[in-house]
Amino acid sequence: MGWITKGQLRVFVVVWVIVTATMAVSAQSPGDAGIGDDFYPGLGNGGYDVESYRIEVVVSDDLAAITRAKTTLTALATQSLSSFNLDFLGMTVDAVRVNSADARIAREGREMTVTPQQTIPDGEAFVVEVEYHGVPGTDSDGDSLDFNNGWFHYGGGVLVASEPDGSAAWFPCNDHPLDKALFDFVIDVPAPYVAVANGVLENVEKDGERIVYTWRMSHPMATYLTTVNINTFVEQREVTDSGLVIRNYFPLAIAEQAAETFARQAEMIATFEPLFGPFPFDVYGVVVADVPLGFALETQTISLFGRNVISGTATGSGASSESVIAHELAHQWFGDSLTPATWRDLWLNEGFATYAQALWTEATLGRSAADRMMVSFYSQISSPLDAARGTAAPGDPPPDALFNRSVYLRGAWVLHALRLQIGDEAFFRFAARVCVAIRLQ
Ligand code: TRP
Ligand code: ZN
Repeated sequence: MGWITKGQLRVFVVVWVIVTATMAVSAQSPGDAGIGDDFYPGLGNGGYDVESYRIEVVVSDDLAAITRAKTTLTALATQSLSSFNLDFLGMTVDAVRVNSADARIAREGREMTVTPQQTIPDGEAFVVEVEYHGVPGTDSDGDSLDFNNGWFHYGGGVLVASEPDGSAAWFPCNDHPLDKALFDFVIDVPAPYVAVANGVLENVEKDGERIVYTWRMSHPMATYLTTVNINTFVEQREVTDSGLVIRNYFPLAIAEQAAETFARQAEMIATFEPLFGPFPFDVYGVVVADVPLGFALETQTISLFGRNVISGTATGSGASSESVIAHELAHQWFGDSLTPATWRDLWLNEGFATYAQALWTEATLGRSAADRMMVSFYSQISSPLDAARGTAAPGDPPPDALFNRSVYLRGAWVLHALRLQIGDEAFFRFAARVCVAIRLQ
Protein backbone atom coordinates (compact mmCIF):
# COMPACT_ATOMS: atom_id res chain seq x y z
CA MET A 1 0.00 0.00 0.00
CA GLY A 2 3.01 2.34 0.38
CA TRP A 3 3.37 5.38 2.66
CA ILE A 4 0.34 7.05 4.19
CA THR A 5 -0.20 10.54 2.77
CA LYS A 6 -0.84 13.59 4.96
CA GLY A 7 -4.46 13.68 3.81
CA GLN A 8 -4.99 10.03 4.68
CA LEU A 9 -3.41 10.63 8.09
CA ARG A 10 -5.79 13.52 8.78
CA VAL A 11 -8.80 11.33 7.95
CA PHE A 12 -7.40 8.58 10.13
CA VAL A 13 -6.89 10.93 13.09
CA VAL A 14 -10.40 12.38 12.78
CA VAL A 15 -11.94 8.90 12.64
CA TRP A 16 -9.84 7.77 15.61
CA VAL A 17 -10.96 10.76 17.71
CA ILE A 18 -14.62 10.13 16.91
CA VAL A 19 -14.39 6.39 17.65
CA THR A 20 -12.61 6.76 20.98
CA ALA A 21 -14.85 9.63 22.06
CA THR A 22 -17.99 7.56 21.40
CA MET A 23 -16.43 4.61 23.22
CA ALA A 24 -15.73 6.78 26.24
CA VAL A 25 -19.30 8.09 26.29
CA SER A 26 -20.89 4.67 25.94
CA ALA A 27 -18.51 3.16 28.51
CA GLN A 28 -19.62 5.65 31.18
CA SER A 29 -23.33 5.29 30.91
CA PRO A 30 -25.96 5.52 33.62
CA GLY A 31 -27.06 2.21 35.18
CA ASP A 32 -30.48 0.93 34.14
CA ALA A 33 -33.53 1.82 36.23
CA GLY A 34 -34.61 -1.85 36.17
CA ILE A 35 -32.78 -5.17 36.56
CA GLY A 36 -34.46 -6.67 33.50
CA ASP A 37 -37.45 -8.54 34.97
CA ASP A 38 -39.97 -8.45 32.11
CA PHE A 39 -42.73 -9.02 34.66
CA TYR A 40 -42.00 -5.88 36.73
CA PRO A 41 -39.58 -3.80 34.60
CA GLY A 42 -39.11 -1.09 37.26
CA LEU A 43 -37.90 -3.44 40.00
CA GLY A 44 -34.23 -3.63 40.81
CA ASN A 45 -31.55 -1.75 38.90
CA GLY A 46 -28.80 -2.47 36.41
CA GLY A 47 -25.08 -1.72 36.38
CA TYR A 48 -24.05 -3.00 39.79
CA ASP A 49 -24.32 -5.91 42.16
CA VAL A 50 -24.84 -5.33 45.89
CA GLU A 51 -22.56 -7.37 48.15
CA SER A 52 -23.87 -6.21 51.51
CA TYR A 53 -26.28 -3.88 53.25
CA ARG A 54 -25.81 -2.41 56.71
CA ILE A 55 -29.13 -0.92 57.80
CA GLU A 56 -29.10 1.24 60.93
CA VAL A 57 -32.49 2.44 62.15
CA VAL A 58 -33.43 4.55 65.18
CA VAL A 59 -37.11 4.09 65.98
CA SER A 60 -39.10 6.86 67.74
CA ASP A 61 -40.34 6.39 71.33
CA ASP A 62 -43.93 5.83 70.12
CA LEU A 63 -42.67 3.40 67.39
CA ALA A 64 -44.57 5.44 64.78
CA ALA A 65 -41.57 6.84 62.90
CA ILE A 66 -37.99 6.25 61.91
CA THR A 67 -36.24 9.16 63.61
CA ARG A 68 -32.94 8.53 61.88
CA ALA A 69 -31.65 5.83 59.54
CA LYS A 70 -28.56 5.09 57.57
CA THR A 71 -28.17 2.35 54.96
CA THR A 72 -24.67 1.54 53.77
CA LEU A 73 -24.43 -0.57 50.61
CA THR A 74 -21.24 -2.13 49.36
CA ALA A 75 -21.57 -2.93 45.67
CA LEU A 76 -19.57 -3.97 42.64
CA ALA A 77 -19.94 -2.01 39.40
CA THR A 78 -20.76 -4.29 36.44
CA GLN A 79 -20.26 -1.42 33.98
CA SER A 80 -18.63 1.98 34.15
CA LEU A 81 -21.23 4.09 35.97
CA SER A 82 -21.76 7.81 35.49
CA SER A 83 -24.88 7.38 37.66
CA PHE A 84 -26.94 4.52 39.05
CA ASN A 85 -30.36 3.95 40.57
CA LEU A 86 -31.55 2.70 43.92
CA ASP A 87 -35.15 1.69 44.60
CA PHE A 88 -36.42 3.92 47.38
CA LEU A 89 -39.96 5.12 48.06
CA GLY A 90 -40.89 8.08 50.27
CA MET A 91 -39.10 9.12 53.49
CA THR A 92 -36.85 12.21 53.55
CA VAL A 93 -33.30 11.81 52.33
CA ASP A 94 -30.79 13.80 54.41
CA ALA A 95 -27.48 12.85 52.76
CA VAL A 96 -26.07 10.55 50.09
CA ARG A 97 -22.37 9.76 49.75
CA VAL A 98 -20.50 7.55 47.29
CA ASN A 99 -17.04 6.49 48.47
CA SER A 100 -17.34 9.14 51.23
CA ALA A 101 -17.94 12.04 48.79
CA ASP A 102 -21.32 13.82 48.61
CA ALA A 103 -23.40 12.70 45.64
CA ARG A 104 -26.31 14.31 43.79
CA ILE A 105 -29.72 12.63 43.80
CA ALA A 106 -32.92 12.91 41.79
CA ARG A 107 -36.07 11.10 42.93
CA GLU A 108 -39.13 9.99 41.02
CA GLY A 109 -41.57 7.48 42.48
CA ARG A 110 -39.61 4.41 43.56
CA GLU A 111 -36.47 5.41 41.64
CA MET A 112 -33.62 7.37 43.21
CA THR A 113 -30.87 8.27 40.73
CA VAL A 114 -27.49 8.81 42.37
CA THR A 115 -24.81 10.77 40.47
CA PRO A 116 -21.39 10.49 42.10
CA GLN A 117 -18.75 13.20 41.61
CA GLN A 118 -16.62 10.69 39.76
CA THR A 119 -17.56 7.91 37.37
CA ILE A 120 -17.27 4.48 39.00
CA PRO A 121 -15.07 2.23 36.84
CA ASP A 122 -16.39 -1.13 35.65
CA GLY A 123 -15.48 -3.92 38.06
CA GLU A 124 -14.75 -1.60 40.98
CA ALA A 125 -16.24 -1.93 44.47
CA PHE A 126 -17.97 1.16 45.82
CA VAL A 127 -19.74 2.19 49.00
CA VAL A 128 -23.00 4.15 49.11
CA GLU A 129 -24.28 5.74 52.31
CA VAL A 130 -27.84 7.05 52.46
CA GLU A 131 -29.10 8.94 55.53
CA TYR A 132 -32.84 9.46 55.86
CA HIS A 133 -35.80 9.66 58.22
CA GLY A 134 -39.60 9.68 58.17
CA VAL A 135 -42.63 7.42 58.27
CA PRO A 136 -42.40 4.54 55.77
CA GLY A 137 -45.11 4.84 53.12
CA THR A 138 -45.21 8.64 53.29
CA ASP A 139 -43.18 11.36 51.61
CA SER A 140 -41.42 14.35 53.22
CA ASP A 141 -44.72 16.29 53.25
CA GLY A 142 -46.30 13.45 55.22
CA ASP A 143 -48.53 12.47 52.29
CA SER A 144 -49.35 8.78 51.86
CA LEU A 145 -47.82 7.04 48.88
CA ASP A 146 -48.97 4.10 46.83
CA PHE A 147 -47.77 1.57 49.40
CA ASN A 148 -49.17 -1.77 50.35
CA ASN A 149 -46.26 -3.65 51.80
CA GLY A 150 -43.11 -2.89 53.72
CA TRP A 151 -42.69 -1.44 57.24
CA PHE A 152 -45.90 -1.18 59.32
CA HIS A 153 -46.52 0.35 62.73
CA TYR A 154 -49.50 -1.50 64.24
CA GLY A 155 -49.99 0.25 67.56
CA GLY A 156 -48.17 -1.98 70.00
CA GLY A 157 -45.35 -2.81 67.62
CA VAL A 158 -43.74 -2.84 64.20
CA LEU A 159 -43.67 -5.54 61.53
CA VAL A 160 -42.02 -5.65 58.11
CA ALA A 161 -43.57 -7.77 55.33
CA SER A 162 -42.29 -6.83 51.88
CA GLU A 163 -43.00 -9.44 49.22
CA PRO A 164 -42.52 -8.54 46.42
CA ASP A 165 -41.58 -4.84 46.51
CA GLY A 166 -42.00 -3.37 50.03
CA SER A 167 -38.33 -3.20 51.03
CA ALA A 168 -37.80 -0.01 49.04
CA ALA A 169 -40.31 1.66 51.37
CA TRP A 170 -37.88 1.52 54.31
CA PHE A 171 -34.35 1.17 52.90
CA PRO A 172 -32.71 2.12 49.58
CA CYS A 173 -31.88 -1.07 47.70
CA ASN A 174 -31.61 -3.08 44.52
CA ASP A 175 -35.09 -4.46 45.10
CA HIS A 176 -35.09 -7.69 43.14
CA PRO A 177 -34.29 -11.31 44.08
CA LEU A 178 -31.66 -11.47 41.30
CA ASP A 179 -29.39 -9.35 43.50
CA LYS A 180 -29.06 -11.18 46.82
CA ALA A 181 -26.69 -9.78 49.42
CA LEU A 182 -25.54 -10.11 53.04
CA PHE A 183 -27.25 -7.97 55.68
CA ASP A 184 -26.53 -6.36 59.02
CA PHE A 185 -29.42 -4.76 60.90
CA VAL A 186 -28.74 -2.34 63.74
CA ILE A 187 -32.09 -1.46 65.30
CA ASP A 188 -32.24 1.12 68.09
CA VAL A 189 -35.53 0.95 70.03
CA PRO A 190 -36.93 2.42 73.25
CA ALA A 191 -36.54 0.11 76.29
CA PRO A 192 -38.01 -2.41 77.04
CA TYR A 193 -38.82 -3.23 73.40
CA VAL A 194 -37.13 -6.11 71.59
CA ALA A 195 -36.12 -5.79 67.92
CA VAL A 196 -35.98 -9.00 65.88
CA ALA A 197 -34.50 -9.23 62.37
CA ASN A 198 -33.12 -11.94 60.07
CA GLY A 199 -30.17 -14.10 61.04
CA VAL A 200 -28.21 -14.28 64.25
CA LEU A 201 -28.45 -11.82 67.15
CA GLU A 202 -24.88 -10.55 67.41
CA ASN A 203 -25.17 -7.90 70.07
CA VAL A 204 -27.57 -6.20 72.50
CA GLU A 205 -26.50 -2.90 73.98
CA LYS A 206 -28.54 -1.10 76.59
CA ASP A 207 -27.82 2.58 76.82
CA GLY A 208 -30.13 4.36 79.29
CA GLU A 209 -33.64 4.36 77.88
CA ARG A 210 -32.61 2.80 74.56
CA ILE A 211 -31.60 -0.71 73.46
CA VAL A 212 -29.66 -1.41 70.28
CA TYR A 213 -30.04 -4.87 68.69
CA THR A 214 -27.57 -6.00 66.04
CA TRP A 215 -28.61 -8.88 63.76
CA ARG A 216 -26.48 -10.47 61.07
CA MET A 217 -27.70 -12.44 58.05
CA SER A 218 -24.58 -14.13 56.76
CA HIS A 219 -26.17 -16.08 53.90
CA PRO A 220 -27.20 -14.24 50.72
CA MET A 221 -30.76 -12.95 51.04
CA ALA A 222 -33.25 -11.36 48.63
CA THR A 223 -34.48 -7.92 49.72
CA TYR A 224 -38.13 -9.06 49.92
CA LEU A 225 -37.18 -11.55 52.65
CA THR A 226 -35.85 -8.93 55.08
CA THR A 227 -37.87 -8.26 58.21
CA VAL A 228 -37.73 -6.19 61.38
CA ASN A 229 -40.23 -6.79 64.16
CA ILE A 230 -40.52 -4.73 67.31
CA ASN A 231 -42.56 -5.58 70.40
CA THR A 232 -42.07 -6.78 73.97
CA PHE A 233 -41.24 -10.25 72.67
CA VAL A 234 -40.05 -13.18 74.74
CA GLU A 235 -37.61 -15.62 73.20
CA GLN A 236 -38.21 -19.35 73.20
CA ARG A 237 -35.31 -21.56 72.15
CA GLU A 238 -34.79 -25.21 71.27
CA VAL A 239 -32.20 -27.27 69.42
CA THR A 240 -33.15 -29.92 66.85
CA ASP A 241 -31.59 -33.41 66.87
CA SER A 242 -29.45 -32.32 63.92
CA GLY A 243 -28.11 -29.41 66.02
CA LEU A 244 -30.03 -26.54 64.42
CA VAL A 245 -31.03 -23.73 66.82
CA ILE A 246 -34.69 -22.70 66.65
CA ARG A 247 -35.38 -19.33 68.26
CA ASN A 248 -38.96 -18.07 68.31
CA TYR A 249 -40.17 -14.61 69.35
CA PHE A 250 -43.64 -14.41 70.86
CA PRO A 251 -45.66 -11.54 72.36
CA LEU A 252 -45.43 -11.92 76.14
CA ALA A 253 -49.20 -12.23 76.71
CA ILE A 254 -49.62 -15.21 74.35
CA ALA A 255 -46.17 -16.79 74.68
CA GLU A 256 -47.45 -20.02 76.23
CA GLN A 257 -50.11 -20.74 73.61
CA ALA A 258 -47.68 -19.74 70.86
CA ALA A 259 -45.05 -22.18 72.13
CA GLU A 260 -47.70 -24.93 71.83
CA THR A 261 -48.74 -23.78 68.35
CA PHE A 262 -45.14 -23.96 67.08
CA ALA A 263 -44.12 -27.08 69.05
CA ARG A 264 -43.70 -29.32 65.98
CA GLN A 265 -41.18 -27.27 63.98
CA ALA A 266 -38.21 -29.49 64.95
CA GLU A 267 -40.21 -32.51 63.77
CA MET A 268 -41.07 -30.71 60.53
CA ILE A 269 -37.39 -29.98 59.88
CA ALA A 270 -36.57 -33.64 60.55
CA THR A 271 -39.29 -34.59 58.03
CA PHE A 272 -38.14 -32.18 55.31
CA GLU A 273 -34.35 -32.64 55.59
CA PRO A 274 -34.28 -36.15 54.08
CA LEU A 275 -36.55 -34.92 51.26
CA PHE A 276 -35.03 -31.50 50.45
CA GLY A 277 -31.49 -31.76 51.85
CA PRO A 278 -30.03 -30.15 55.01
CA PHE A 279 -31.72 -27.00 56.35
CA PRO A 280 -30.10 -24.24 54.25
CA PHE A 281 -29.31 -21.66 56.99
CA ASP A 282 -27.57 -21.72 60.37
CA VAL A 283 -30.66 -20.84 62.39
CA TYR A 284 -34.47 -20.90 62.14
CA GLY A 285 -37.52 -19.72 64.06
CA VAL A 286 -40.61 -17.55 63.83
CA VAL A 287 -41.80 -14.19 65.04
CA VAL A 288 -45.44 -13.61 65.94
CA ALA A 289 -46.62 -10.01 65.53
CA ASP A 290 -49.12 -8.92 68.17
CA VAL A 291 -51.84 -8.23 65.60
CA PRO A 292 -54.10 -10.54 63.58
CA LEU A 293 -52.85 -11.00 59.99
CA GLY A 294 -54.44 -12.49 56.87
CA PHE A 295 -51.05 -13.81 55.78
CA ALA A 296 -47.80 -15.38 56.90
CA LEU A 297 -44.43 -14.74 55.26
CA GLU A 298 -41.26 -16.80 54.85
CA THR A 299 -38.85 -14.05 55.97
CA GLN A 300 -35.42 -15.69 55.84
CA THR A 301 -34.53 -17.65 59.02
CA ILE A 302 -37.45 -16.01 60.90
CA SER A 303 -40.89 -16.58 59.34
CA LEU A 304 -43.55 -14.04 60.25
CA PHE A 305 -47.07 -14.80 61.55
CA GLY A 306 -49.98 -12.82 63.02
CA ARG A 307 -51.29 -13.56 66.52
CA ASN A 308 -54.33 -15.36 65.04
CA VAL A 309 -51.92 -18.26 64.46
CA ILE A 310 -52.57 -19.36 68.06
CA SER A 311 -56.29 -19.77 67.46
CA GLY A 312 -55.83 -22.26 64.64
CA THR A 313 -55.69 -20.26 61.41
CA ALA A 314 -52.59 -18.39 60.34
CA THR A 315 -53.94 -16.82 57.14
CA GLY A 316 -57.24 -16.00 55.50
CA SER A 317 -57.05 -19.14 53.35
CA GLY A 318 -58.71 -21.48 55.85
CA ALA A 319 -55.63 -23.74 56.08
CA SER A 320 -54.75 -24.82 59.63
CA SER A 321 -51.95 -23.03 61.46
CA GLU A 322 -49.94 -26.23 61.51
CA SER A 323 -50.15 -26.49 57.73
CA VAL A 324 -49.11 -22.85 57.21
CA ILE A 325 -46.21 -23.31 59.68
CA ALA A 326 -45.00 -26.22 57.50
CA HIS A 327 -45.50 -24.03 54.38
CA GLU A 328 -43.33 -21.15 55.66
CA LEU A 329 -40.67 -23.58 56.86
CA ALA A 330 -40.54 -25.28 53.42
CA HIS A 331 -40.05 -21.84 51.82
CA GLN A 332 -36.65 -21.62 53.54
CA TRP A 333 -35.50 -24.23 50.95
CA PHE A 334 -37.86 -23.18 48.15
CA GLY A 335 -37.91 -19.40 47.77
CA ASP A 336 -35.29 -18.30 50.29
CA SER A 337 -32.24 -20.49 49.65
CA LEU A 338 -33.27 -21.21 46.05
CA THR A 339 -34.96 -18.15 44.52
CA PRO A 340 -36.65 -17.57 41.14
CA ALA A 341 -34.88 -15.13 38.80
CA THR A 342 -38.13 -13.48 37.74
CA TRP A 343 -41.42 -12.88 39.58
CA ARG A 344 -43.25 -14.62 36.73
CA ASP A 345 -41.83 -17.88 38.13
CA LEU A 346 -43.30 -17.35 41.60
CA TRP A 347 -44.99 -20.76 41.41
CA LEU A 348 -41.52 -22.26 42.03
CA ASN A 349 -41.82 -20.76 45.53
CA GLU A 350 -45.49 -21.24 46.23
CA GLY A 351 -46.12 -24.53 44.42
CA PHE A 352 -43.27 -26.25 46.27
CA ALA A 353 -44.20 -24.74 49.68
CA THR A 354 -47.85 -25.73 49.16
CA TYR A 355 -46.88 -29.26 48.14
CA ALA A 356 -44.75 -29.42 51.30
CA GLN A 357 -48.00 -28.98 53.28
CA ALA A 358 -49.24 -32.22 51.71
CA LEU A 359 -45.90 -33.90 52.44
CA TRP A 360 -46.15 -32.92 56.13
CA THR A 361 -49.73 -34.24 56.19
CA GLU A 362 -48.53 -37.48 54.60
CA ALA A 363 -45.72 -37.85 57.18
CA THR A 364 -48.02 -37.28 60.15
CA LEU A 365 -51.47 -38.52 59.11
CA GLY A 366 -50.70 -40.86 56.23
CA ARG A 367 -51.06 -40.97 52.48
CA SER A 368 -54.84 -40.97 52.34
CA ALA A 369 -55.02 -37.75 54.40
CA ALA A 370 -52.50 -36.18 52.01
CA ASP A 371 -54.54 -37.39 49.03
CA ARG A 372 -57.64 -35.78 50.52
CA MET A 373 -55.70 -32.51 50.81
CA MET A 374 -54.67 -32.70 47.15
CA VAL A 375 -58.29 -33.42 46.15
CA SER A 376 -59.43 -30.38 48.09
CA PHE A 377 -56.77 -28.25 46.31
CA TYR A 378 -58.04 -29.67 43.02
CA SER A 379 -61.62 -28.65 43.75
CA GLN A 380 -60.45 -25.06 44.36
CA ILE A 381 -58.47 -24.64 41.16
CA SER A 382 -61.33 -25.19 38.77
CA SER A 383 -62.97 -21.91 39.82
CA PRO A 384 -61.79 -18.92 37.77
CA LEU A 385 -59.67 -16.09 39.22
CA ASP A 386 -62.39 -13.79 38.04
CA ALA A 387 -64.82 -13.72 35.14
CA ALA A 388 -62.48 -11.80 32.83
CA ARG A 389 -59.32 -13.83 33.24
CA GLY A 390 -60.49 -17.36 33.84
CA THR A 391 -57.95 -19.72 35.37
CA ALA A 392 -54.37 -18.64 34.78
CA ALA A 393 -51.63 -21.24 34.36
CA PRO A 394 -49.33 -21.32 37.43
CA GLY A 395 -46.35 -20.21 35.33
CA ASP A 396 -48.26 -17.33 33.75
CA PRO A 397 -49.83 -15.29 36.55
CA PRO A 398 -51.39 -11.87 35.85
CA PRO A 399 -48.90 -9.20 37.10
CA ASP A 400 -51.69 -7.52 39.07
CA ALA A 401 -52.71 -10.80 40.76
CA LEU A 402 -49.35 -12.44 41.27
CA PHE A 403 -50.24 -14.37 44.42
CA ASN A 404 -53.29 -16.04 42.95
CA ARG A 405 -54.69 -19.47 43.82
CA SER A 406 -53.32 -21.05 40.68
CA VAL A 407 -49.71 -20.23 41.61
CA TYR A 408 -50.19 -22.05 44.94
CA LEU A 409 -52.60 -24.88 44.18
CA ARG A 410 -51.96 -25.70 40.53
CA GLY A 411 -48.27 -25.24 41.35
CA ALA A 412 -48.56 -27.97 44.02
CA TRP A 413 -50.45 -30.15 41.54
CA VAL A 414 -47.64 -29.86 38.97
CA LEU A 415 -45.39 -31.57 41.51
CA HIS A 416 -47.95 -34.15 42.59
CA ALA A 417 -48.70 -35.06 38.97
CA LEU A 418 -44.97 -35.43 38.31
CA ARG A 419 -44.64 -37.70 41.37
CA LEU A 420 -47.57 -39.84 40.23
CA GLN A 421 -46.01 -40.06 36.78
CA ILE A 422 -42.38 -40.92 37.63
CA GLY A 423 -42.86 -42.65 40.99
CA ASP A 424 -41.72 -41.77 44.53
CA GLU A 425 -38.16 -43.01 44.19
CA ALA A 426 -37.24 -40.87 41.16
CA PHE A 427 -39.33 -37.91 42.40
CA PHE A 428 -37.69 -37.56 45.82
CA ARG A 429 -34.20 -38.31 44.48
CA PHE A 430 -34.79 -35.40 42.10
CA ALA A 431 -36.10 -33.04 44.83
CA ALA A 432 -33.04 -33.58 47.06
CA ARG A 433 -30.62 -33.36 44.11
CA VAL A 434 -32.05 -30.03 42.97
CA CYS A 435 -31.49 -28.53 46.42
CA VAL A 436 -28.01 -29.90 46.90
CA ALA A 437 -26.88 -29.02 43.36
CA ILE A 438 -28.06 -25.44 43.75
CA ARG A 439 -26.24 -25.10 47.07
CA LEU A 440 -22.97 -26.31 45.55
CA GLN A 441 -22.95 -23.50 42.97
N1 TRP B 1 -45.33 -15.62 50.40
C1 TRP B 1 -46.39 -15.58 51.37
C2 TRP B 1 -46.77 -17.04 51.58
O1 TRP B 1 -47.26 -17.68 50.71
C3 TRP B 1 -47.60 -14.77 51.00
C4 TRP B 1 -47.37 -13.33 50.67
C5 TRP B 1 -47.27 -12.79 49.44
C6 TRP B 1 -47.18 -12.24 51.55
N2 TRP B 1 -47.05 -11.46 49.50
C7 TRP B 1 -46.99 -11.09 50.77
C8 TRP B 1 -47.15 -12.13 52.91
C9 TRP B 1 -46.77 -9.84 51.34
C10 TRP B 1 -46.94 -10.89 53.47
C11 TRP B 1 -46.76 -9.76 52.71
O2 TRP B 1 -46.54 -17.60 52.59
ZN1 ZN C 1 -45.95 -19.28 50.39
